[in-house]
Formats: sequence, structure tokens, C-alpha cells
Amino acid sequence: MADALFSSYRINKNVIPNRFTRSATAERCAEENGSVSEDLFVAYRKLAKGKIGLVITGHCYVHTSGKTNRLQNGFYDDVLIPGWSRLVEAFGEDNPDASIYAQLSHGGRQILPEINPNPIAPSAVPLEKLGSKPVEMTEGDISMIIESYIKAAVRARKIGFDGVQLHAAHGYLINQFLSPRTNLRKDKWGGNPENRMRFLVEIIKGIRAEIGRDYPVIVKINGSDYMPGGLKVEDTAEILKVIQEIGIDAAEISGGTVETDPKHHAIRKGVFKTSQEAYYLQEALKLLEVAKIPLLLAGGLRSVSVMKEVLKKGITAVSLSRPFICEPDLVLKIKSGEIRSKCTSCSWCYGRPINSIQCVSQKDSIVEY
Ligand SMILES: Cc1cc2nc3c(=O)[nH]c(=O)nc-3n(C[C@H](O)[C@H](O)[C@H](O)COP(=O)(O)O)c2cc1C
Repeated sequence: MADALFSSYRINKNVIPNRFTRSATAERCAEENGSVSEDLFVAYRKLAKGKIGLVITGHCYVHTSGKTNRLQNGFYDDVLIPGWSRLVEAFGEDNPDASIYAQLSHGGRQILPEINPNPIAPSAVPLEKLGSKPVEMTEGDISMIIESYIKAAVRARKIGFDGVQLHAAHGYLINQFLSPRTNLRKDKWGGNPENRMRFLVEIIKGIRAEIGRDYPVIVKINGSDYMPGGLKVEDTAEILKVIQEIGIDAAEISGGTVETDPKHHAIRKGVFKTSQEAYYLQEALKLLEVAKIPLLLAGGLRSVSVMKEVLKKGITAVSLSRPFICEPDLVLKIKSGEIRSKCTSCSWCYGRPINSIQCVSQKDSIVEY
């Protein structure tokens, strides 16, 4: 088991050289139109040099109505292709064995009001924490957004991304359709589990119809929303059973939404002891009972001993976000004997008041946008 973290595995036909994943991390340093900035380009060169097996981009909006914050990266138009192509090409030069996937997303109701106070969502369920008052999507809106996801996946393949990840976790649009708390529809898009998963199912089927079976398409999904009336692990198990049959190649397990209380939040603070790590492991193990595809686990992975334990239990790969912000070279350090990331999970990188992807330990050198 000593080298388990450094053994390869497959997602569809894609061989991933080790078990480390850079979980999607929104860098919030795009150009105003969502295109790749010089800062993002530089950040990905560092990630590539760090030899992480699979790097997943921050969530990229597939349609302009799904933009969640000002300097988020986009994936909504071919005008963005040259910036992404340059980044993907440089990534491949620095780490030819690794893979890079684009995370495709739409904010739905979880959009900052200064971007759009009345965003579209499955149902008009206000999000008081952000002050957003969504409007219910029409049939036309739903078809248009499904089409945007499909076009974005086609774009990703054209750019040279090795795969795409559909962001179905953390309270964003796909999660809003899946969750009975935010999907109150009475039509074919809501009302029962089959209808609530229709939006995700149609996206997957549409992508497969356009790009065939061989291109890796994975999801990030909540084991639980940790919200009264929200998705529970039993619901996610049913979703997993369906989507793995229609073309999802792997699932990354996370949890919570913007509204979830801090102790169950996806980006939980204060992971100090090994017992606080891998905080969605219990849900992931339940999902393992029905999974026929690789499961990746996100949430508080910090120590090599815990990562190995997680793999031993049957999880295929570990996914880390904050540790790679402070140590993009963490995989190399682990290979040379380091036993734990120095990340303290203070989450300054997430809540920081400025737009830049940095660790609190580097804050003196930050340029404000
Ligand atoms: C700054 C920051 C930005 C994030 N952006 C995204 C994102 O765009 N998409 C996503 O699925 N998760 C995002 N996350 C969540 C991480 O992918 C991950 O699920 C979570 O931070 C737990 O992993 P960690 O304990 O290793 O940080 C973000 C986390 C941080 C800290």
C-alpha cells in the first residue's frame, strides 16, 4: 500500500498517473469577460509543475446567466477558446502525464446580487444569505441551459481538455434541480426523484450524443446537502445508480451548499487532527456500495496516513483544494517523504476580500484587483 497514492488509474480511457486530484478551485482572477488572465495562466503552470495527477479548473459558467461572481472564468462562448488553449497547452508541456478537466457550472440562485439580484433557478426560493431573489426557469430557459452545458463540453474537447466535470454539488444549479429543498416544481422537472434528476440526465445524454462515449465526463456531487429537506446520501445513491448507467465515468463526493452551517460546509475550517480529516468519508463509503465507477473524495484531506486509509477503503483518488493553494508542489513533497500538508484550513483563501488565489501565508505579496 506504500505506493498506493502513486499508482495510476483510469477514468474512461484516460490514464491518471497518481491518486491526487486538485479539486476544482475558483481562482477568481479571470478577465471581466471570463477569459483566462495572465495570473491564471501562471497559477496553472505552477500546478502542472507540481505533478498532480488530475487538475480540475474552478467552476466555469456555461451561460452568462450563470456567472456567480465578477472575476469568475467562463466557458460560454468560442471567444474564450484561445485563452484556455494556451493554458491547456502549457499545462501539457509542464506535465505531459497529467490530466486537466474543465469544471462546468451555472450558479442558478446562488449568484451574488451585484452580478444579478434575480437569477434563474428551478424554483423561486430566495437565498437570504446572499440576498438573491430568483425567478423560476421557463421550459425555454431549461432547454437553453442544457444546450449550454452540451456546447461547453464540446468546446472543452476542442480546446484539448482531457475531460469535463459537471458541477452538481455545493448548491449550484444542477444541485438546485436535484434537491427537493430548492426544486419545488410540479412539472416534469420536479415533484419526484426521477423528475428532479431529469436536468442532469438530459445534460449527460446530450453531451454523450454530441461527443460519443470515449471522452471523460465526471460529476462532483453532494453526498448530503446537510440542510433540512435537502439531498441525503440515500438520494445521492439513487442518482449515482442512474448517471453511471448513462455515461458518467467518475464521481467526486463533496457536500453542503452556501446555506449549510459552517460545521458541515464543504470548505470547513480548522482541520487540525487526523480525526477531522476526510469529513465526507462516511457518505462516500455509503455511495461505494452502489458505485460501479471510480469515486474521488474531497473535503479536508491533509495527511498521507488518512489519504492511504481512504484508498484502502475503496475510494479511488483523493481530492484537495486548499492544500494546493499554499503548496502547489505538495505531491512532490509527499513523494520525498512529507507526511502532511501545512494547510491549516483557515479558509482565508476562500473568504479573502480581494480577487486573487493566494494562501494567507503569502498575503503580503498580493496584488489587489
Ligand atoms: C478558494 C476556493 C475556491 C473553490 N472553488 C470551487 C469551485 O469552483 N468548484 C468546486 O466544486 N469547489 C470549489 N471549492 C471547494 C473545493 O473544491 C473542495 O471541495 C473543498 O475546499 C474541500 O477540500 P479541501 O479541504 O481540500 O479544501 C473551492 C474551495 C476553495 C478554498
